[in-house]
Amino acid sequence: MRIPGIREDVVEKLKFMFEPDSVAVVGASRDPEKIGYQCLRNLVEGGYEGRIYPINPNASEIMGLKCFPSVLEVPGEIDLALIVVPAKIAKRAVEDCARKGVKAIAMITAGFSEIGNKEGEDEIVRICRENGIPLLGPNIVGIANSWKKCNASFCQSLPYAGKTAFISQSGALAIALIGWTWLYRVGLSSMASIGNKADVDFSELILYFGERDERTNCIAMYIEGLDAGPEFMEACRRVSPKKPLVALKAGKSERGVAAAASHTGSLAGAPLIYSAAFKQCGVIEVNSLIELFDSALALSLQPPMLGDFPLIITNGGGAGVCATDAAERYGIPISDTPPDLRESLRKYMPEFGSPKNPVDITGMGTADKYEGAIREALAHPGVNGLAVLYCHTAITSPMGVAEAIYRPYSELKPQKPIVAAFIGGSECEEASSWLKERGIPTFPSPERAMRALSALRAYGKIRERFGGAGAIKRA
Ligand code: ACO
Repeated sequence: MRIPGIREDVVEKLKFMFEPDSVAVVGASRDPEKIGYQCLRNLVEGGYEGRIYPINPNASEIMGLKCFPSVLEVPGEIDLALIVVPAKIAKRAVEDCARKGVKAIAMITAGFSEIGNKEGEDEIVRICRENGIPLLGPNIVGIANSWKKCNASFCQSLPYAGKTAFISQSGALAIALIGWTWLYRVGLSSMASIGNKADVDFSELILYFGERDERTNCIAMYIEGLDAGPEFMEACRRVSPKKPLVALKAGKSERGVAAAASHTGSLAGAPLIYSAAFKQCGVIEVNSLIELFDSALALSLQPPMLGDFPLIITNGGGAGVCATDAAERYGIPISDTPPDLRESLRKYMPEFGSPKNPVDITGMGTADKYEGAIREALAHPGVNGLAVLYCHTAITSPMGVAEAIYRPYSELKPQKPIVAAFIGGSECEEASSWLKERGIPTFPSPERAMRALSALRAYGKIRERFGGAGAIKRA
């Protein structure tokens, strides 16, 4: 049911959804193969420290926890009810939640508007709205909050902890991408699967993560279609000067639009309209899931790039050329190094190196040469952002270069962004993870590093346009 404008009271109450002190799993099952069992297991084994109440009239105890026949029998307050009973008894479960005074509901149950059961869905929304209970879903995988160790979902695990809130209109993608958060060290503060968005909408989640959640400093969204466009834009306009918003709008091709319609019943709409709207309200648009994650990683860790002069430092000419091409493609053309900086960079390369942009310290570039060049670049006022590219050579270890990047970064605490690309095998992967854990977004290719830097530039422009304060430190 379309929201009647942004509801500030709902935004406020979303803290019970994402930071609950108690969770009831309505439909907690004894059968390990059922979703209701997995949700309970995720809370228990994920290390959630709040109170957990399994609700099941047919069981007395599950996983050593006392079971209650209904939320009405629970002695304490319930912040979040996670509903995992079949659609035909979901309404009764919601009525009980309302009577109990449950503060928020996340409904995993499918079988509503996505299969034509709009009436059943509207009925549940009506009960929730009349009782002031925000409802997420139905037809979702649940929610997760890494910091609270609250995995109220049937995702395989909590996400890798970080500072991006991920809102996904696809439940299956949300589940799968939890794996990416660990693999690529892209940390999430929270994950919200939005499903049929029958009640709580994108705009309210954006405002919650944007204005009320201190653990979040970037919001990443997978969107198939919006029902409440003006509210979405209003929320983004409010949040984008403070925190970056990055979105993948899926369902852009002719057949993609049809696929989105049958997946979430979304009006995928004309792609150009979405792109224009994103621009107007300060949302950075990306074109693939990997771009969404790469951009979120950079935006959640680094300050925006204010100004149009990025410097590239590389030990490989080819990597520099690829990065230059990518930079141009992504709208941050590379210009020449200022003469004074050229002069000082000369010290860190052999005669046949190049201090032009890209700065090529050549294959003879050892860790100390990298460090010297990085210090010069970070200290130079004309450099607005830095991309450090490293091709694995026998003379320099990836970890040595990682340390050479991190040392000046941690000492100088620059108010300009830095990204890196480590191009090579498993040692590069290890060094990349080490850097990411220390706040430096690092990628396996120059193109991905430049794409991430372009997101930081895009956010710099948004902050300039919307009058956000100067550079902010994100790591
Ligand atoms: N209150 C609480 N629990 C009850 C009640 C009640 N009134 N009545 C029955 N239960 C118990 C059952 O006894 C059962 O426990 P048990 O296994 O120990 O006996 C438990 O609740 C679950 O009930 P079932 O009838 O077994 O339901 P089942 O687990 O088969 O299905 C589910 C429930 C998962 C909600 C299903 O209806 C559903 O919607 N599945 C789809 C979920 C989904 O995919 N969501 C979208 C995700 S996005 C994506 O695409 C991945």
